[in-house]
Amino acid sequence: MNANLELIKQEIITGSEELNSSKEVYEFKKKFLDGKTGKIGMLMKEMKNIAPEERAAYGKGVNELKEWALEFLGGLDVKMKAKELQARYEAEKIDITLPAVTVAEGNLHPITLVRNQIIDIFAGMGFEIFEGTEIETDYYNFTALNTPEDHPARDMQDTFYLSPEFLLRTQTSAGQIHVMEKQQPPIKILSPGKVFRSDDDATHSPMFTQMEGLVVDKNITLCDLQGMLDEFVKKIYGEGTKTRLRPSYFPFTEPSVEVDCSCFECGGKGCKLCKGTGWIEILGAGIVNNKVLENCGIDSNVYSGLAFGIGIERTAMLKYGINNIKLLFESDVKVLGQLNDK
Ligand code: DAH
Repeated sequence: MNANLELIKQEIITGSEELNSSKEVYEFKKKFLDGKTGKIGMLMKEMKNIAPEERAAYGKGVNELKEWALEFLGGLDVKMKAKELQARYEAEKIDITLPAVTVAEGNLHPITLVRNQIIDIFAGMGFEIFEGTEIETDYYNFTALNTPEDHPARDMQDTFYLSPEFLLRTQTSAGQIHVMEKQQPPIKILSPGKVFRSDDDATHSPMFTQMEGLVVDKNITLCDLQGMLDEFVKKIYGEGTKTRLRPSYFPFTEPSVEVDCSCFECGGKGCKLCKGTGWIEILGAGIVNNKVLENCGIDSNVYSGLAFGIGIERTAMLKYGINNIKLLFESDVKVLGQLNDK
């Protein structure tokens, strides 16, 4: 190899020791091997100035140097890239043993949970949802439900009147009238919503939530009512739960019943929850009073109906073992977090 080629080779060897990155290797390689500007590339162009008899040896020498440089710098590039990759692995290393950052998760309010669960149960039996309004007229809340102005049953509910005509509904039963006025049987609706009464103690709140059920069709009887409620208590309180109907009074149903379920805490033996009776009162219900059907233009000789009203807070209190209704409204996250579906 001629002395000049040897010099270039030395320059490459010493220069390569200073290189610290694959990018530098790339630039360095270009400096020597670029076809137009690289030192070795330019040697090729010198060919024409070489004496013809020396050309073959010169060309061979340049080619050998080029081959060597390609291999040498190529190898350096591979090593440099491996080193860089290793450095990246080190820099991006994560400690998988570190505790994870926890994100506090919200959950649905127990009233919402119970409301959704009741809706799911009755939707499965073909009920549709009707949402009434919280402000009602005296007519829909009382009169049409067979509770005219001087009726003693009005005293059963302490009402917030907004004016002599308007009031905050005391019961979702008001929705029954709206539905029956608009729709002829068959009717099968479930009406959830807030209701208001001037009532405030450990188990009552001035605002609470009810779920009204109404079925109107031909040949509806108390057996249909009990069948549906049997299904309902099994799904909400557990398979072994039974129902029992006790005579009661509501102006809009005749006969009226109070529905108890067998105590899901003690299985009916008697405990603190069922006050030793083995039974827990869960809702009011009955066969829709003919007068109510007629008030809505439904022929009571052809059709009959069943209705029930479930207190959602009461259901949630029983289900989650809460003894003060205020816990449901104070919205203490620590308390609510514990009231998930068990
Ligand atoms: N509206 C009643 C109340 O708030 C509950 C009720 C009882 C609803 C019997 C009904 C029913 O539909 O048939 O106390």
